[in-house]
Amino acid sequence: MKPAATAENLRPDYTVDQPWDRYTASDHQTWRTLFERQAKLLPGRACGEFIAGLDGLGVAADGIPHFDRLSDVLEKATGWRIVAVPGLVPDDVFFGHLAARRFPVTWWIRKPAQMDYLQEPDVFHDIYGHVPLLMNPIFGDYMQAYGAGGLKALGLDALVGFDLMRIMRTKYRIDTFQKTYFAIDNFDQLFAATRPDFAPYYRTLRTLSDIGAGEVVDSDTVLNRGTGEGWADTPDT
Ligand SMILES: [Fe+2]
Repeated sequence: MKPAATAENLRPDYTVDQPWDRYTASDHQTWRTLFERQAKLLPGRACGEFIAGLDGLGVAADGIPHFDRLSDVLEKATGWRIVAVPGLVPDDVFFGHLAARRFPVTWWIRKPAQMDYLQEPDVFHDIYGHVPLLMNPIFGDYMQAYGAGGLKALGLDALVGFDLMRIMRTKYRIDTFQKTYFAIDNFDQLFAATRPDFAPYYRTLRTLSDIGAGEVVDSDTVLNRGTGEGWADTPDT
C-alpha cells in the first residue's frame, strides 16, 4: 500500500496525519511478519541501547503502531516525537525536523512481495530501524545535532556524513548492503565527533577524491572483513 498523500493534507513541512484507517489487515500482517523475523535476528547483533529502546517504546508484533502513542512514550524519555510523512522528504526538510527533535516516519508499509527489500524506507524500516535509538538520551542529542549540522552543511553546499574525512570521502549504496561499515565504541564518541565546526572539513574534502564503497585504504584498521555476500556488482554511483 503506497498511496501518495494528496496535496490537501500534505503540510508545508511534508507531514501528514497518520492515515490509520487506510491500513488493511494485510498491512498489519506484513508488520507482524517483519517484526517477528527481525526480533529473531537481534540477539548478539544489536547493541544494548537499541534493545533497551525497542523494549522501552513498547513496539510490539501485533500491528502497525499509532504514531501518537509512540510519540508520547518517546517524548517522556528524550523529548523526541515522530511525525508521519509520505516518503523521502527533501534534505532541508529532513534536517529541519531532526533539529527540532521530530523524526519523520514514512506511514505506509511495503507489499508482501517486498518483504526482503524495497528501495525506500517504509513504516517498518523507520520505526523498527531508527526510532528505538531515539529513546537513548545521548543518541537523541546526537540526532538533533546531526540535523542542525545537516542544515549548516546545506548552507555550505556540502552535505556529508558525521565523522572523519575517511567517512566523508566514502561512497555509499542505497540499493544493496553497504560495503563498508564504520565502527564506534560508544555513542559518546559519535556525539563528540559532531561537535567540531565542519567548515574546514568541507574545504579539505573538495580537494580529495572519493573512496569507493568497498575500498580499503592504507590508514584503515580492518576489524572484520566480510565475504562480500549480498554486494551488488554494479558500480557505485
Ligand atoms: Fe534508514
